Amino acid sequence: MSKDPSTLRSFSHGRWLFWLPALVRVRLQNLLEGHSLPVGQLQQLFINNSFWAQQRGLADLLRSLRGSDAIVSTWDGEELVAVGRATSDGIYRAVLWDVVVRQDWQGQGAGRAVVNRLLAAPPLRCAERVYAMTTHGVGFYERLGFQEERHQHLMVLRRDGWGTRSSG
Ligand SMILES: CC(C)(COP(=O)(O)OP(=O)(O)OC[C@H]1O[C@@H](n2cnc3c(N)ncnc32)[C@H](O)[C@@H]1OP(=O)(O)O)[C@@H](O)C(=O)NCCC(=O)NCCS
Repeated sequence: MSKDPSTLRSFSHGRWLFWLPALVRVRLQNLLEGHSLPVGQLQQLFINNSFWAQQRGLADLLRSLRGSDAIVSTWDGEELVAVGRATSDGIYRAVLWDVVVRQDWQGQGAGRAVVNRLLAAPPLRCAERVYAMTTHGVGFYERLGFQEERHQHLMVLRRDGWGTRSSG
């Protein structure tokens, strides 16, 4: 079935609201931000449409949202279609994380809209460099103005299984 991107609506979420109890949070997000971002729906989006975030538990997802400087969700009515988040020091460096579009909505501009909204968010607006780590999305980020970095290496300290990350 063909999709109509004009039905999509994107919303920005402040991390502070993710510290509130779920019922209060949902009401305040609806009131102040135009839409809530239920963590269960985020988890389902990751399970169905990512390969790196399928095992994430609700408590840890909540923690990751609390630790993010910009969070964007895109909705088709009450269906979550796309998300993305970012961390930033506000001036020098920012990083995009977990940009995911539901499979049946891919190729309709939703990913571009999420990234552009993240880039325009106050914590990222002035960042000198914005990084994105991706396995299959190089072409996507190039279309958005990113360049593949050939002079730096990506270094990773693997700490899988630490803390509560494997809990659900
Ligand atoms: C990668 C992803 C976020 C792109 O989102 P999307 O909504 O499908 O992309 P858009 O429709 O906004 O595409 C924007 C542009 O990038 C291009 N593009 C999208 N995905 C691409 C890809 N994998 N390779 C090359 N170009 C791509 C589109 O053709 C479009 O080009 P245009 O400027 O000529 O119109 C989405 O496909 C996705 O969620 N994939 C699964 C998760 C994932 O791999 N995420 C990687 C980012 S961390």
